[in-house]
Amino acid sequence: MSLVRAAVFVGLLAFAAGSGFAQQQGQSSDSDDAYERPYKICAENTVDPGTYNGYRRYHAFCHQCHGPDGLGSSYAPKLVDSLQVLKRDQFNEVVVNGRQNLAAGQEKVMPSFGHVEDVMMYLDDIYSYLKARSDGKLGRGRPQRCPA
Ligand code: HEC
Repeated sequence: MSLVRAAVFVGLLAFAAGSGFAQQQGQSSDSDDAYERPYKICAENTVDPGTYNGYRRYHAFCHQCHGPDGLGSSYAPKLVDSLQVLKRDQFNEVVVNGRQNLAAGQEKVMPSFGHVEDVMMYLDDIYSYLKARSDGKLGRGRPQRCPA
């Protein structure tokens, strides 16, 4: 575990213990978990600036297909559920390269965003937002930002 990750983790633990989330978050001790769950929740529906930015980027680039708040549509899957299965690297791979599902007469296309700078630059933030939603740590709608 790097020093930075260790420090982040210790901070998380202190936060978890202080706010009654210890049972949900206190057991995750490896650095994998910090990678898979980059978001920070400081209070109900209040998140770190990156995760907040992810909310905004998601609603600019993804929600027209994947529905508001990651809840899916008749065209594209509910990403709140997808991220209970997909790992962060798998998520990144699909967004960068896109995917096409032509099975059984369907013509559903997940576009490739590898060339879309405003998505690539903020891919970590979009992931963070969706993972917080998927973990049930963040509700619907526009979150608040943690105080600086
Ligand atoms: C034009 C519509 C469209 C847009 C815009 C779009 N997607 Fe998709 N996406 C899809 C479709 C359709 C699928 C399902 C493809 C399939 O069935 O293989 C999909 C699949 C995915 C998957 C895989 C889900 C799974 O369960 O395997 C991820 C992750 C994903 N999209 C993320 C995103 C993100 C993040 C954005 C915004 C940057 C985005 N998508 C924008 C249509 C879209």
